[in-house]
Amino acid sequence: MNDDGRMSDMTGDGTRVVRAGLPEHVPYEPTMPGPVFAAHFHLPGDPVGPYTYGREGNPTWTRLEEAIGELEAPGGGPPADTVVFPSGMGAISAVLMSQVRSGDVVVLPNDGYQALPLITERLEAYGVEVRTAPTAGDAQLELLDGAKLLWIESPSNPGLDVCDIRRLADAAHAVGALVAVDNTLATPLGQSPLSLGADFSVASGTKALTGHGDVLLGYVSCRDSELADSVRKWRKTAGAILGPMEAWLAHRSLSTLQLRVDRQSANALALAEALRDRPEVSGLRHPGLPDDPAHSLAAAQMRDGRFGCVVSFTLPDRARAEHFLAALRLVDEATSFGGVRSAAERRGRWGGDAVPEGFIRFSVGVEDAADLVKDVLRALDEAAAS
Ligand SMILES: Cc1ncc(COP(=O)(O)O)c(C=O)c1O
Repeated sequence: MNDDGRMSDMTGDGTRVVRAGLPEHVPYEPTMPGPVFAAHFHLPGDPVGPYTYGREGNPTWTRLEEAIGELEAPGGGPPADTVVFPSGMGAISAVLMSQVRSGDVVVLPNDGYQALPLITERLEAYGVEVRTAPTAGDAQLELLDGAKLLWIESPSNPGLDVCDIRRLADAAHAVGALVAVDNTLATPLGQSPLSLGADFSVASGTKALTGHGDVLLGYVSCRDSELADSVRKWRKTAGAILGPMEAWLAHRSLSTLQLRVDRQSANALALAEALRDRPEVSGLRHPGLPDDPAHSLAAAQMRDGRFGCVVSFTLPDRARAEHFLAALRLVDEATSFGGVRSAAERRGRWGGDAVPEGFIRFSVGVEDAADLVKDVLRALDEAAAS
């Protein structure tokens, strides 16, 4: 720790996450202050902050924003200016709604999170042109001419394709477009979009960032404070804000982020390796598998072997997939990913992703890998016999 009690000279991720966003040491104060429940604050005279009214700011948000900002800091430098939201969709909408005007062009992935088509519908209703292309092969490069904003999701959910963020960001900036990266799957410990050239690193903190399946969260970390101010102004305008309890829970969860993502990445790789020899499994994807089509790019731009907790694969048909899910004992049949307890679902049941009927999105938790693999192989056997 340096002289002012902060952690700027600490570089280990495990050290950074347990201290991120915490105040300086004050004798007899809690080491991690509790949530501040306040709709308004004492405000004599001119209405200037730091805290005026609860829709504009709250000390519990500030600590969480500083913590995430430290983790998303470009090049390990000063914290990224960060704005928190009550969900990932709140954060995504805030970037788009604050930056884009009628007549602008936005480039989205066509294989990203399944609510992006809802965003497309809304943007088009406002007179924005939306162009889409797949994540793989950096296909969005072809659509950048005249664009105002490029939206990247890498690795993509649920297909786990990866694009070259630096290459796309450089090309977008060359035509004057802003660049946002959805960093949900990687988390800031697995990938640093701002270091790779993005203007915004945006995520659903509902997933691996908080990791316990008990809180919804979104955030936007910005390279530039003017951009952050415009996103903050949108939050004040839309009024969709995070509760102090959720902010505090999220902050508390960050202290185990490195333990969780390292364990989940290792478990995901173990599961993917166990699945590769199964004859009924096709389309197996995990960016950590050495022969995955995304592996070399992922290894170059993601950090420390943290390829995420998601493994995706396809079983022969819907019935086999449903039998498999029902036969699992250590795995919840649930949507979402990134939690400490493994979860899996037949993604096609939502109807929003272009995936086969037997497609499984598997979110690997922090269980013992041997137990998990045993449970999955047993469930595959049971499904095959049924
Ligand atoms: C990649 C990605 N981005 C954004 C979201 C939206 O996040 P939230 O559910 O917190 O609104 C999700 C949700 O699954 C997601 O997977």
